[in-house]
Amino acid sequence: MKTVVVGSGGREHAIAWALARSERVSEVLCVPGNGGTAVEPKCRNIDIPVSDFLAITNACRAELSSAEDFVVIGPEDPLAAGLSDRLAAAGFRVVGPRQKPAALEASKDAAKRFMSKYGVACAESETFSNADDASAALKTGSGPVVVKADGLAAGKGVVVAADRATAEKAVREFMIEGSLGGAGHRVVLEEYLEGDEISVLAAVSVTPETASAGRASIRPFVSARDHKRLRDGATGPNTGGMGAIAPVPGLDEATLARFRTDILEPTLRGLVAEGYDYRGFIFFGLMLTTSGPKLLEYNVRLGDPETQAVLPLMDFDFAGMCEAIMDGTLADFPLAWQAGFCCAPVAVSGGYPGEYRKGIPLAIDRDLVAGSGAKVFVAGAKVDRRAPKGGKDGAGLVTAGGRVLAASARGDSIEEARERAYRALAACSFEGMFYRRDIGLPGAAASPAL
Ligand code: AMP
Ligand code: GLY
Repeated sequence: MKTVVVGSGGREHAIAWALARSERVSEVLCVPGNGGTAVEPKCRNIDIPVSDFLAITNACRAELSSAEDFVVIGPEDPLAAGLSDRLAAAGFRVVGPRQKPAALEASKDAAKRFMSKYGVACAESETFSNADDASAALKTGSGPVVVKADGLAAGKGVVVAADRATAEKAVREFMIEGSLGGAGHRVVLEEYLEGDEISVLAAVSVTPETASAGRASIRPFVSARDHKRLRDGATGPNTGGMGAIAPVPGLDEATLARFRTDILEPTLRGLVAEGYDYRGFIFFGLMLTTSGPKLLEYNVRLGDPETQAVLPLMDFDFAGMCEAIMDGTLADFPLAWQAGFCCAPVAVSGGYPGEYRKGIPLAIDRDLVAGSGAKVFVAGAKVDRRAPKGGKDGAGLVTAGGRVLAASARGDSIEEARERAYRALAACSFEGMFYRRDIGLPGAAASPAL
């Protein structure tokens, strides 16, 4: 069967790689893909932007002919804009929630209303559509508070404010100065929570039909942890993610049990009660507080870079799991995970998350990477015919984004996984390349000090 993967990041390279490993998948079409999917066995890029739904639908019509073929939508923007509905209406099988449930990520206010309606453990919050009211509410308290723009803001919509003056400044920027456009016209003010953060990615199969048959299901994957700060020791500015590990070392069964009862199960009840068609992935961003895990956010997709650390631990057929999501048999699907850990540090362009150059040639010593046992997932790099190709040093790739690639390696211990991943990263280079050295070390993902 053939599959289409929509998206161009490291997450989509990992998804395409996971699909291509399935014996049943003959070809993975990556729309638009990147320099990693361009050279991945069985994968082929189709140069269409993720925002061009008409061209994507037409490409699916041209490429997918069998009833078992399907599409996986990677990023949040096309999900929030209804690509899943559009492709389903055109008769294609889709992994990715419909537009309505995608609001759980696209609107922080919608997510908070859902959490409160269904009793999902989370921080106290209030939503404001008027900056004066938000400022007045801030003046009634003191101490840290979190200001969240309601809409999608590519990671720039949350300010963890140490004091009320900082919070008021964020409210003004979002609501009056319009620094995020329409995404900041409403804000959520939220109780500040302290603790360690983890991510749980999960597969979801909820439709009115599976629900009435008692087969609606959310199946969590191994836990993961992102590292948001730019520099070692969780210092420097926030980024899209400087590396991930999976599972989270030392995470105990009691915490996972609380996550299931206080967060996952009420979420499932809510998806069912709302009558949603949600067949895809969900991401739970959790804070482990002294009073148990609390949900910080839902994403309606797999996490990036968590996916690059989680999927290499799969001990099941990813395409088969996608089919189980779509046909309502996820509850019985044999999800199994390899023992050990995966570590996936990310290499970024010099200057990221600020301004950085693009078009810089990459050198990847493929023999050294292969010797390390790691897999390189490309994020922001593309094939350039002018770049040196093949051979020991030439990747034929040039940088095209801030986060350029991740080296992902499994080990029996987190130390072994780290050693292999960093050995592979040392075999990759480009001018200005920067990466954290401490992904997977204790304390590397500590909460920001306030
Ligand atoms: P979000 O997009 O809602 O996950 O927020 C982005 C980041 O802000 C999270 O990964 C946390 O590090 C931080 N954050 C969000 N909400 C809170 C909260 N209620 N208390 C403390 N930190 C938070
Ligand atoms: N790693 C967090 C995210 O994917 O949003």
